Amino acid sequence: SKTSSAAPDVFLSCLAVDIPHRLVHTPASSSYAEHLFSSIRNLRFVAPDTPRPLAIVAAAEPKHVQATVRCGRRHGVRVRTRSGGHDYEGISYTSLDHHERFAVLDLAAFRSIRVDAPRAEAWAGSGATLGELYFAIGAANRTLAFPAGSCPTVCLGGHLSGGGFGALARKYGLSADNVVDAVVVDADGRLQNRSTMGEDYFWAIRGGGGESFGVVLAWKLHLVRVPETVTLFSIRRSRNQSAIDLITRWQEISPVLPWDLYLRVVVDKQQAYFVALFLGSCGRLHRLIRTRFPDLGMTQQDCEEVSWVQSTVFFAFDSTAMPLEVLLQRGNKRQSYVKAKSDHVQVPMPRQVWESTWARLERPEAASLMLEPYGGFMGSISSSVTPFPHRKGNLYQLQYYSEWFENGSATLKKRMKWVRDLYKELEPYVSKNPRAVYVNYRDLDLGTNKLEGNVTSYANARAWGEKYFKGNFERLAAVKAMVDPEDFFRNEQSIPPLPTAT
Ligand code: FDA
Repeated sequence: SKTSSAAPDVFLSCLAVDIPHRLVHTPASSSYAEHLFSSIRNLRFVAPDTPRPLAIVAAAEPKHVQATVRCGRRHGVRVRTRSGGHDYEGISYTSLDHHERFAVLDLAAFRSIRVDAPRAEAWAGSGATLGELYFAIGAANRTLAFPAGSCPTVCLGGHLSGGGFGALARKYGLSADNVVDAVVVDADGRLQNRSTMGEDYFWAIRGGGGESFGVVLAWKLHLVRVPETVTLFSIRRSRNQSAIDLITRWQEISPVLPWDLYLRVVVDKQQAYFVALFLGSCGRLHRLIRTRFPDLGMTQQDCEEVSWVQSTVFFAFDSTAMPLEVLLQRGNKRQSYVKAKSDHVQVPMPRQVWESTWARLERPEAASLMLEPYGGFMGSISSSVTPFPHRKGNLYQLQYYSEWFENGSATLKKRMKWVRDLYKELEPYVSKNPRAVYVNYRDLDLGTNKLEGNVTSYANARAWGEKYFKGNFERLAAVKAMVDPEDFFRNEQSIPPLPTAT
């Protein structure tokens, strides 16, 4: 219709009032592709028929973000916020709906980091990467740290919005558990901080998933204490080195280890890697493993003592030999296709289940499995302190992570099928009612939003929403109804406004 073809133009003229032309990239400009692809991490979403934004706003100041939200609302153009572009389903820069008119609000420029070591606090922009944050903390003080994920190019914007799980989670919880303030642009284009937005709103942005509640520009973080040196190991075991027995045992041992010890398992290409971060010395770690998990066969030669910031290099690159500066590489090349899913395990899976899973892992199209131990701090707080509900009662989180490099629909189909088949097969052995999943491992197989009138249907969204948020989903929807009743900020799995009782 006339209005729909006119909308992009009036939207763009509206942006032009507050945003310099050079920061707005439209399909007509030669800079469009470069900006669009600057942080697409998943080749599943570069196909030519993928729906594209009608503009990319490379915001440089808060007022550019405010103008994009206001102009979008006024002229019927939705905003997809992108910080690091790591979303597993690409929903920060594309849409499943070929008719949706949307702009990408790219926050890559909001990347300043200010560490206040004496106060053990930092302010960091949503477009800062985890690597940049780790580097800045390490440069300021070797006994401070921040609990967050292992991939250094993930950005704070999406990561903190969805939780943020990493090697310090058993000691200090998620990233979101350590956020003490934030600056947000709300659905009316107003700037808010913790004291102006109020505690319900502030609760929702720390784990309720990206996009739904506004655009977070920056986060104030509480930094945590770590010793000057920490200890690492990575011990590899194949099937004929008892990998299956060890994993079966690990399920019961790892969640009840002392909080200072994080011991994950990654199963990749028919090898199980037992990877540890210990907030203490190699000698103490060795004694601990010898008493609690002797079958692992750890020796003192397996471990290495490094600074905490060096340990983040190890978790990112599997090596401690690299300089800390590798943390600063934004690594924006897109090289692989990814599909992931997650589960929570509450009762150890029987050995024969690991046997049959291992048989599947031997296929060429197999994914990697990442087993992340809970317990410690994760098991000590109530499941409603933040929207992330997976706390007490969970032994570990299981991630199915399929990454491949060959193009072609046959490979894609096989890869996707492998992940979906194993997910189905493991259903009897993982959490139930609901089957609990982690929102930062976004999975659109769980269901996608439908509209009821012009807002997202709450009844329909519960199918996927309660898997991510359990009992917190309703409260998230109530916050949404309060801060964005018209449902401007929406995507395939955004939080719908809670309908008012009739
Ligand atoms: P992206 O920009 O794609 O945003 C993700 C979502 O948040 C989108 O819906 C987006 O609209 C929204 N959003 C982004 N910025 C926002 C902002 N400023 N305000 C409001 N909404 C915003 N997770 C984990 O917990 N531990 C880990 O170790 C890892 N490791 C890991 C490795 C790799 C290779 C990948 C690809 C992903 C992970 N993750 C992870 C998952 C990661 O935490 C998750 O994908 C984050 O949402 C990514 O945040 P980005 O800002 O990079 O993504």
